[in-house]
This record gives sequence, structure tokens and C-alpha cells, in this order.
Amino acid sequence: MGSHGATIPPHVLIFPLPVQGHVNTMLKLAELLCLSSLDVTFMVSDFSHSRLLKHSTVISRFEQYPGFRFESISDGLPDDHPRAGEQAMDILPSTKNITGPLFKQMMIEKNLLSSDTRRPVTCIIADGVLSFACDFAEEKGIPLIFFRTISACSFWAYFCIPELIAAGEIPLKAGIGKDQIVNSVPGMEGFLRYRDLPSFCQVNDINEPKLHIIESETRQTTRAQAVILNTFEDLEGAIVSHIRKHIPRIFTIGPNNAHLKSRLAQKESEKSILSSSFWEEDRSCIDWLNEQPPKSVIYVSFGSITVVSRDQLLEFWHGLVNSGQRFLWVMRPDSIVGEDKKNQIPVELEEGTKARGYMVEWAPQEEVLNNAAVGGFLTHSGWNSTLESIVAGVPMICWPYFADQTINSRFVSEVWKIGFDVKDTCDREIIEKVVRELIEVRKNEFMERAENMAKLARKAVSEGGSSYCNFDGLIDYIKAMVI
Ligand code: UDX
Repeated sequence: MGSHGATIPPHVLIFPLPVQGHVNTMLKLAELLCLSSLDVTFMVSDFSHSRLLKHSTVISRFEQYPGFRFESISDGLPDDHPRAGEQAMDILPSTKNITGPLFKQMMIEKNLLSSDTRRPVTCIIADGVLSFACDFAEEKGIPLIFFRTISACSFWAYFCIPELIAAGEIPLKAGIGKDQIVNSVPGMEGFLRYRDLPSFCQVNDINEPKLHIIESETRQTTRAQAVILNTFEDLEGAIVSHIRKHIPRIFTIGPNNAHLKSRLAQKESEKSILSSSFWEEDRSCIDWLNEQPPKSVIYVSFGSITVVSRDQLLEFWHGLVNSGQRFLWVMRPDSIVGEDKKNQIPVELEEGTKARGYMVEWAPQEEVLNNAAVGGFLTHSGWNSTLESIVAGVPMICWPYFADQTINSRFVSEVWKIGFDVKDTCDREIIEKVVRELIEVRKNEFMERAENMAKLARKAVSEGGSSYCNFDGLIDYIKAMVI
């Protein structure tokens, strides 16, 4: 324990991959730990720190927790790097090669971030894709827990890459179509097609570097003392039980957003949604939503990284306008390939958009999904968006872009049956049809299943629920590190 008395709490260093989706969910974990009176240092990149300072409520929000601190570090990318589309992946090698050594230096120079009132870091909770944090923790003898921000189903598929290769299921053999069923991921036999595998597994060449980066980062997860997953047992327990055979100590504590809300309600403290946006939230869309009939609006957003071509954009647009339904569309200024943000609305669609649509550059998404007017979500199936939709009881139309999203969308449609999966198509007639089916023709059926799933999510994070109890277990586990 060193010179610090038993009254000084454990000090947890949280280190996310510095991109929006990962920072969002790990900040919620940070607040959960603060509510349990642990000291927390949150390592964030210079780039995301400046965005959070400018656009989020994070700084004022965490002022209420004296044990909370930020540390900021370079993500290794130039300031003007787009950090979107396929180039978003550049952050993996840059954090490994540049941030990793800087991190080590900082930890040593700052005496493992200790002060008169804080212990040196007791435990590191690192993003599961930052294996350099594990190298450092092992060198210094500090316990490390990995937080995997993706779904259990996608993590498990990544984990099975060696088996997929050994069985000859990846790469796809010549002459076999992408609808081929894949059988080497236990628990997903019969419904998982090649096209549903995480996109990084869908390679033509076995020596594709991204396949091996993902494989080795995933297998390194077993080096951690424990793993945290942002999911809940009623949603993915069957898949988690397969992972537990390789990683026995897993804490499923999600959905993090609902979990935080549930714990805040108990403490009767600040109940508003924690906003950790990198872009300015345009709240005018809430006023617009408040004027729409209940469950009548399709919310359209493809997260923080997805980019679309102008042709794809037009297909979505025609589909939405032709469906005759209302829609709220988030269009990030950097989300269209090869276009600047001016003159994006094609003249022929302007009228349909004005009559029934509303557009913003960035929305307060959790608040939007919980607005009574929202009846469906056209999403890229990022894991945060998927969980936020599940918690709000909103059925989905999934158009996965890359990575884990291709498998999340398969689970949404085939396992949980709370939406449609339109992956690998971008066609106005299909969009029009699924929007109508979701919000009109089969509305009751989808709403009922989505609401049931939302109830299970809320149960998991309420006192006595699986995620609630697992989080208590995690706190006890961390506290035992300083006894
Ligand atoms: C990335 C990956 O793409 C995703 O697949 C992975 O699971 C996590 O990291 P991203 O693509 O940004 O994240 O998607 P997602 O995980 O859905 O996260 C987006 C976050 O931004 C959500 O928390 C969402 O609420 C928020 N958001 C999005 C807003 O606050 N406003 C918006 O307008 C759009």
C-alpha cells in the first residue's frame, strides 16, 4: 500500500482509444467509478480533449467529483488528419508507435500520476485495442483490466479468427458467394453468413495486415487480469459464456448509459445525460421533434466515423422522401466523400425534406432516441448507437459501414429481431420499403419486441440486476488490490 493510508481510495487510470465511440462509453465508466468514490484519471488525446472542452458538458460535469482528473497525450496523428472513414483506422498504428512510448515516459516522470492526496495508479482499465498499456502494466506490476467497447458477438468472432482460417472459411473461396453460412464461431452456427463477419475478417488474402492486427490485439486480451464488456447477460449471455472459457473473469456491466442513469438516480445527483460530444450538439432538433406525432420519426445517423458517397447519400434521401415518413437526419460536415458541406440538398428533394424532414450536423443522440416522436433508427450499427437504441426501445434499420457493425446488424435482425439489416445494399426502393415496414406496416410487432428488450436492459442495470451486481463485483475486485 506504500505510504498511503487505507482511507485513500484506489486510483484507476482509464485509457480509451481516443475516438468518439470509445471515449463516450469509457467516460460513463469513469463516472460510475467516481460514484463509487474511486480516484480516476482519464487519459485522453490532445485532439479529443480540445473537442471535449469546446463541445461537451464533461468538464463541468466532473467538477463534482474531486477524485477525477484528465491527462492529455498525443494520438500520434497530425492535427489536420481526417480521423474519419477508412483513415480512422490510422489511429491504431499511431497510438501503438507514438502514444505508447509517450505514455510510458509520462507515467514514469509523473511518478505513476501520484500526488499528496492520490496513490500511484492502482489499476489500469485500458481499451482492449491498446495492448501497449498491457506491456507497460506487466513491466511495472500494475494490474490491468481491458475494456472492450464492442459487442460480445463481434469480440467473439474476432477471437475465432484462427479457427475461421483453419476451417478455410476465411478468406472466401473462389466461386462461393457471401451468403455462405460460417460455422466456426461457436454459438452462431446456422445464421452467421460470411457477409456478417466483422468487415476486417472479410479479406481476400490471408496475409492481409489488418486481419492479423485484429487477431493479435484480440488474442492479447487474455493477458489482462479481467475484461469489462459493455453488454448485458439477457442480450449476449450465450455468447459471453463462450468467451468465459478463455477469459474467466468477465464483468458485463452494460448498457453503460442506462447503468449510469440508474446509479445517478439512486444518489439523487445530477440526472441529465452526460454529453461527451466532439461536435457541437444542435438542440433545435429537439424542438422540432417535440412538434411531431408519437413514434412517427425515423432518426438517421451513421455515428462519428462513417463517410458516404454522394450516390449513396442520394439513395438514402430518395428512399426517405419517397417513404412519406418524417425523418431527422444527422449529417456531419465531414461525412460526405469528396464534397464540401455546401449545396448538399439536391433540388428535387428539397421539398420532401422541408415538408417532413429536419437536418442537423450533430445531435444530442441519446436525448433524441428517448424522445416520444422517434419510432425508428436508421443506423450504421456502431455498438454505442445500437445499445442506446435498445435502451430507448427504438427498432432499427441497419446499414453497417465497417468493423464490428456488420455482425451487430445481423444480431439486431436475426437474433434479437428488433430491426432490419440492409447491409451491402444502398438502394432507394429498399430504403423506402423498410422504412414503411418498420414505422407503418409492422410497427406494433417491432415496437413490442424493442420495448421488451428495453425492459430487460433496464432490469440488468437496476439493483439486483446482472450488470448492477457485476459492477459491484468489479469495484470489490479493484478495492481488493490495495488491501
Ligand atoms: C466506433 C465504431 O464505428 C463502432 O462500430 C464501435 O462499436 C465503437 O467505435 P462510431 O462509429 O462513432 O464508433 O459509432 P457508435 O459506437 O455508435 O458511437 C457514436 C456515438 O456518438 C454514440 O454514443 C452516439 O450517441 C454519439 N452521437 C452520434 C451523438 O452524440 N450525436 C450524433 O449526432 C451522432
